[in-house]
Amino acid sequence: MSPLHVTRTFPEDATDAALRADVRHGLTATPKWLPPKWFYDARGSELFEQITELPEYYPTRAEREILAARSGEIAAASGARTLIELGSGSSEKTRYLIDALPLAAYVPVDVSESALTQAAQALIADHPGLEVHALIADFTAPLTLPATPGPRLVAFLGGTIGNLLPAERTEFLTSVRALLAPGDGLLLGTDLVKDEQVLVRAYDDAAGVTAAFNKNVLAVVDRELGADFDLDAFDHVALWDAEREWIEMRLRSRTEQTVKVPALGLAVEFAAGEELRTEVSAKFRKDKVGTELAAVGFDLTHWWTDDQDRFALSLSVAR
Ligand SMILES: C[S@@+](CC[C@H](N)C(=O)[O-])C[C@H]1O[C@@H](n2cnc3c(N)ncnc32)[C@H](O)[C@@H]1O
Repeated sequence: MSPLHVTRTFPEDATDAALRADVRHGLTATPKWLPPKWFYDARGSELFEQITELPEYYPTRAEREILAARSGEIAAASGARTLIELGSGSSEKTRYLIDALPLAAYVPVDVSESALTQAAQALIADHPGLEVHALIADFTAPLTLPATPGPRLVAFLGGTIGNLLPAERTEFLTSVRALLAPGDGLLLGTDLVKDEQVLVRAYDDAAGVTAAFNKNVLAVVDRELGADFDLDAFDHVALWDAEREWIEMRLRSRTEQTVKVPALGLAVEFAAGEELRTEVSAKFRKDKVGTELAAVGFDLTHWWTDDQDRFALSLSVAR
């Protein structure tokens, strides 16, 4: 049997229905918004990889530094035989964990089929004995995991948890806990609250890669739903909300305009200067992470940061 299994949890027509529902809901709301998972078609995943290499985008480097230093400790504490990674993308940093853990199986889960299959094939080539069960799935929907040996460790890296709104985060963490048995682990990457300028620059780089990534969601709606968003008619905006402690990415309409979405029979009016929210990226403090995890049945046992305290990786045990 091949050690690579690719499973699509949602049939493509369900993905299409979910996109339609989200676009209808978000573009008819006040203020307008779209969920960030729709950034990640093949082009969006490529742009995200470019973002991770930008000088302004410190989270990937900071988390990699922690993983390089701590994977041995993570392996000793969790002893996981199955590593499940949510929003795994390129799985690049995960290689530290795969090398350190006594793994029988790796289960990467992502909405981006292109990122997932490329990553899984590269891993198989480097780890011929490893079973890789790649799941093309939405991690905010119920997941069915393959029957692989425990203990299980769920990894959720990159600060992606910050893209969920607080109520979504609680629901999501509750569903992650339900995937695990007592004693299983959760390895969570969280970006930390810090100087506003450093944060804003990380989401508004000089080369304009994040701007292109942000606008890619419009290209996805154009391609999938026949819409006529003109990407040049919107400006990329990144701002820090000090009260909520999150970064917001928005797209600001340059002019008054009407965008048609034929597949939904919608004509969406934008005022000049009107903004469409495309992503929040919450930043965290240790107390908040511990409290939110405790509320859904995890005990935080380890908290590691990079040498500049920009990013944290925490290990928690399911009660
Ligand atoms: C910020 S990137 C992080 C990628 C990688 N974990 C890292 O640390 O570099 C978010 C990843 O989650 C995936 N993703 C976003 N929303 C998702 C969802 N609802 N379900 C599954 N995957 C999702 C994206 O395709 C992307 O690969």
